[in-house]
Amino acid sequence: MVAIILAAGKGTRMKSNLPKALHPICGKPMTRYVIDACRASGVEECIVVVGHGAEEVRAALGEDVKYAVQKEQKGTGDACRAALELLPGYEGSVMVLAGDVPLLDPEVLKELAKEQASSGMAATMLTTILPEGGGHYGRVIRGADDTVEKIVEAKDATPSELAVNEINAAIYCFNLPLLRKYIDELTPANAQGEYYLTDVIGLMVADGHKVGAVITEDPNIVLGVNNRVDLSYLTGIVRRRIIERLMLSGVTVTDPSTTYVDDDVEIGMDTVIQPMTVLEKGCKIGKNCTIGPSARISGTVVEDGATVLLSNIVDSTVGEGCKIGPFAHIRPGCTLGKKVKLGNFVEAKNAELEDAVSVGHLSYIGDARVGEHTNIGAGTITCNYDGYKKHHTEIGKNVFVGSHNTMVAPVKVGDGSLTAAGSVITRDVPADALAIARSEEIIKIGWAKRRREQKDTE
Ligand code: UD1
Ligand code: CA
Repeated sequence: MVAIILAAGKGTRMKSNLPKALHPICGKPMTRYVIDACRASGVEECIVVVGHGAEEVRAALGEDVKYAVQKEQKGTGDACRAALELLPGYEGSVMVLAGDVPLLDPEVLKELAKEQASSGMAATMLTTILPEGGGHYGRVIRGADDTVEKIVEAKDATPSELAVNEINAAIYCFNLPLLRKYIDELTPANAQGEYYLTDVIGLMVADGHKVGAVITEDPNIVLGVNNRVDLSYLTGIVRRRIIERLMLSGVTVTDPSTTYVDDDVEIGMDTVIQPMTVLEKGCKIGKNCTIGPSARISGTVVEDGATVLLSNIVDSTVGEGCKIGPFAHIRPGCTLGKKVKLGNFVEAKNAELEDAVSVGHLSYIGDARVGEHTNIGAGTITCNYDGYKKHHTEIGKNVFVGSHNTMVAPVKVGDGSLTAAGSVITRDVPADALAIARSEEIIKIGWAKRRREQKDTE
């Protein structure tokens, strides 16, 4: 089976510079959902019709599909014709889908293909009943024998046609030679001046062919996205689907209504996702973790048993049993070993923290490597930037960095050494040494008392 996916439209009603096909739903471009549903239903080849923003759409959707180009957006019929040019000599059936109907169920696509194969009709289309009324969708007009007679777009419909609540999902399975024949007969004589793919159905029937329909009972799977209200509605449906899938696979989600998980995120068994948590861009969260409340984790691997509380983590790896937060900020390029602790107001960037490193409070660790079991005292800063270039700080294992240290990079602090509180470390510290880099304390006995007595008598 071959599928043609129409995604050349500008998506005028989205009011956006981003082509409609690429508007993400839970992190995945809308049209990618259509491709994935086709694949899951057994479609071997997908041809995506691109036009508006063609290069951008291609780059985002990937190269596992073929692309046809519709130069001018003259309607869905014209878009479909552009794809047919890539299928010369092909005689079987072809599925045609809209790139803006993303919630498709692969099982329903299979049913549509099966129905088309067994009925031998010219086309089989997917429809649904919208009890509240058909809105802007094309209406399915049925003939005396209850087969489909034609589709009328809402903008072209008479009042009695508008009252029909069976709508066209814009998902069809066509006999390819017949589709080729009738697509060439389309004219743009309608309210929108476009070549409507939907008119092919009427032309087929008028010529004595039969068109059938599979009616799906779940209207959600055929909802289209035409504006950002639709987009948020569909996002809500996908979001709940993802969270339900996770819960059924053994993840506790305390409050689904404030949990946002991208489609490509994986979470292990017995992990608890607390409220107000956002997991994005292919995060892989292990087993027995506690994530949230209020965690945003993007593009990151979090290994088993870690906890992340009130923190932001991007493009990093968090090892087994780490304790992150509250209020930690882990920026791209960090690798945390096992049982690393990053406490409140700690920021890390491009840093490797080996097993059991502890950075408890108010620190910045950037462009650095910290060896295992090293403790970084509160308020420590790696000065990685000299105003021109970034420099590296290397802190060994079993080091005790006193509170409020300033590591002026490039600098190395050897294994097992100790740096005194308040030090500004500018020279390398050898292993097992003590570095004190602060001015010596001066004590003036009785000075404060004398001052007090003087001020009190003034
Ligand atoms: C279409 C159907 C309507 C159906 C609805 C279901 C037609 C004429 N109407 O209406 O019966 O109920 O879908 O969601 O087909 N496209 C192109 N090139 C173009 C125009 C559109 O590739 O020149 C693509 C769009 O990118 C989009 C899809 O075709 O992915 C549907 O186009 P759209 O304009 O959204 O059609 P609707 O008005 O929603
Ligand atoms: Ca649409």
